[in-house]
Amino acid sequence: MGPTRRDVLAMGLATCGWAAAGGTAASAQPAHRPVPFGGAVYLPDLEADPRLGDAIVAHCQAVTPVNELKWISTRPAPDLFDFAASDKIADFARTNALAMHGHTLVWYAELPEWVTRLTSAADAERALTEHIVTTMQRYGDVARSWDVVNEPIPDAARRPTDRRDSHWRALLGDDHIAQAFRIAHDVDPDALLVINEYDVEFATGYFPAKRQAFAHLIRELVDKGVPVHAVGLQGHLRGGVPIAKDELAQFVADMRELGLKIMVTELDVIDRDLPGPADVRDAIIAAQVEDFLGAITASGPLHSITTWGLSDTYTWIRWAYGRSDGLGNRPLPLDENFQRKPMFDVIDRFRSIV
Ligand code: XIL
Repeated sequence: MGPTRRDVLAMGLATCGWAAAGGTAASAQPAHRPVPFGGAVYLPDLEADPRLGDAIVAHCQAVTPVNELKWISTRPAPDLFDFAASDKIADFARTNALAMHGHTLVWYAELPEWVTRLTSAADAERALTEHIVTTMQRYGDVARSWDVVNEPIPDAARRPTDRRDSHWRALLGDDHIAQAFRIAHDVDPDALLVINEYDVEFATGYFPAKRQAFAHLIRELVDKGVPVHAVGLQGHLRGGVPIAKDELAQFVADMRELGLKIMVTELDVIDRDLPGPADVRDAIIAAQVEDFLGAITASGPLHSITTWGLSDTYTWIRWAYGRSDGLGNRPLPLDENFQRKPMFDVIDRFRSIV
C-alpha cells in the first residue's frame, strides 16, 4: 500500500519545516531551506477570487484563518460548535499540503455574547477547556501550531505585571493564561504553543512599557514551567513610526535565552498616513519591514513569517485604516494584481537567514 493521505500530509509539513514544539526549528533546517512563509486568509475572499488561492499555493507553506477559528465564528451557543468555515480553510490547507496555524484559542475580543454572560469561574473554566480540547483535536492533523493566548497585554500598561482586562480574566484571574497553555499542551503535547502580541516594536509612547509587560509575562510563564514554546510578534507595523531596533533586538534575544522560538504572525504595514505615490510608499514600507525583521533576526533565525493577508486587494487595513486621499492601501507583499512588491523581497531575504 502506498502512503496514506495522512502520511503525505505529514511529509508535506515536515518538508516545509512548519511546526512542532520539539520538531523542525528553523535552526535545524538545512541551510538552503528558507524559513516557512504563511499568509492569513479570510474564507469569503478565498471563495470569491481564485487568484487568491493560487497565490497562496504559489508562495506559502502555511495559512492562518483570519476569523474562522475565533469564538465568535465557531461558538454560536454554549453547547454548539460550528466548524463549517474553519473546516473549509483546513481542507484547503490539506489539499495543498500547507500547514494551518491556529488563531486563536484565548482572546479578549470577538467573543459570542453568551461567553460574556458566564458568571462563575467553574463555568468559565469548563467553557475554556471544552473549547480548547474540541478545537485542537479537530485540526490536530493540519494545525501543529496555535496562538493559545492572543494579546494579553493592555495597550497602556503602567506596570510590568499589568494584564489586559477580559472576561476570562474577570472570572479566572491572570492564571487563565497559564491554564490555557496547560490545557493545550495536554491535548497535543507536540503542538507549538504561541503567545501572540502587537505593538511591541516601537520606541516611543506606550510601546516600551507594553514590550516590558509582555516580556515580564512570558518570563513568569516560563519560570512557572508553563508550556509556552514561541513568542508571536504580530507585526502590524504603524507606517512611519520608527522601530526600536536595539530594544526589540534585545527583547527577542532575551526570549531566545528562555528557549523560545520567535514567529512573525500577522505582518502588514498600516500605510494610512504614508505618502501617496506607490513607489515612494512601497519603499518606506519595505524599509520599515527591513528594520523590523533585521532587529528580530539579529540573534537568530525566525521560526516562521506570516503576513496578515497576501494581496493588497484583501486586507483589513482597507477598512480599519483607510486613507483619506482615496488611494488604496498597500500593506502586503503582493499588490492588487498579485504582483510582487519590494516588501516581498525583504521578507525573502530574511527567510534565508539560518
Ligand atoms: C482582524 C481581522 O483581520 C478582521 O477581519 C476582524 O474583523 C478583526 O480582527 N490582531 C489579531 C487579528 O490577532 O485577529 C485581527 O484580525 C487583527 C489584529
